[in-house]
Amino acid sequence: MAYEINLSSKTAVITGAGRGIGAAIALKLASAGANIAVVELKEEFTTETVAAVRALGVKAEGYAGDVSNLADMQSLMEKIQSDFGSLDILVNNAGITKDTLLIRMGEDEWDAVLRVNLKGAFNCTKAVARIMMKQRSGRIVNMASIVGLIGNAGQANYSASKGGLIALTKTTAKELAGRGITANAIAPGFIKTKMTEVLPDEVKAKMLELVALKQFGEPNDIANTALFLCSDLASYITGQVIVVDGGMVM
Ligand SMILES: NC(=O)c1ccc[n+]([C@@H]2O[C@H](COP(=O)([O-])OP(=O)(O)OC[C@H]3O[C@@H](n4cnc5c(N)ncnc54)[C@H](O)[C@@H]3O)[C@@H](O)[C@H]2O)c1
Repeated sequence: MAYEINLSSKTAVITGAGRGIGAAIALKLASAGANIAVVELKEEFTTETVAAVRALGVKAEGYAGDVSNLADMQSLMEKIQSDFGSLDILVNNAGITKDTLLIRMGEDEWDAVLRVNLKGAFNCTKAVARIMMKQRSGRIVNMASIVGLIGNAGQANYSASKGGLIALTKTTAKELAGRGITANAIAPGFIKTKMTEVLPDEVKAKMLELVALKQFGEPNDIANTALFLCSDLASYITGQVIVVDGGMVM
């Protein structure tokens, strides 16, 4: 008998879900029945995802907010909980890059990336922790990267943010396990989105050589893993990093 993942009556908050990997996760969780709160820098960034999710027959709302602002995230998560009636899943997906070699990297480039990718995840996790602790259940999925495990020339800021996010995932898992909350990270390799589209062709060609399966990943590959981690199938998994990279890092 086929096993069906059922997330109906669950509320999932996904940051940076206006496009790319976050949008794919929103649609995937919605197709399993979850109601979706899309958090984006600007409300107009949420329109497309919200419409696509609603077309699947579940509730969806878009919210404007910058994950790097703790006070905003605290009031936003409370609003989402009151709008939806529960808050069961948080996917910390919002992320940015500002690539350049370490010796050329300015303090502003370092700070901006750490502020969104690492502090943003801390802010949202802190904001949902109390709600999930009261419920005695919850799922947190953090979007890391393989460069958080192995580093990458030109990404001192980004790789440090993702390495930090992996450590944050493990600490979150340890602190919240007693309340029935799991926290895991996904470490994607090279996934075809607007974030990677801008890379020069020679960089893409070099990357592809490193992929054992000889093709770049799709946002849906990451969404499938997120769905698994948010489902009952993963109830005994916490504090882990799942690498989804077509065999780049082994
Ligand atoms: N694409 C890849 O190959 C790849 C690989 C490894 C990890 N990742 C990670 O996956 C996540 C999604 O990446 P993507 O490729 O879909 O990127 P993307 O640039 O297409 O989407 C990121 C989204 O996050 C939003 N965002 C940015 N800053 C924000 C903020 N401060 N507050 C709220 N929203 C904000 C953006 O508006 C955008 O819609 C990121 O964390 C990224 O680091 C991507």
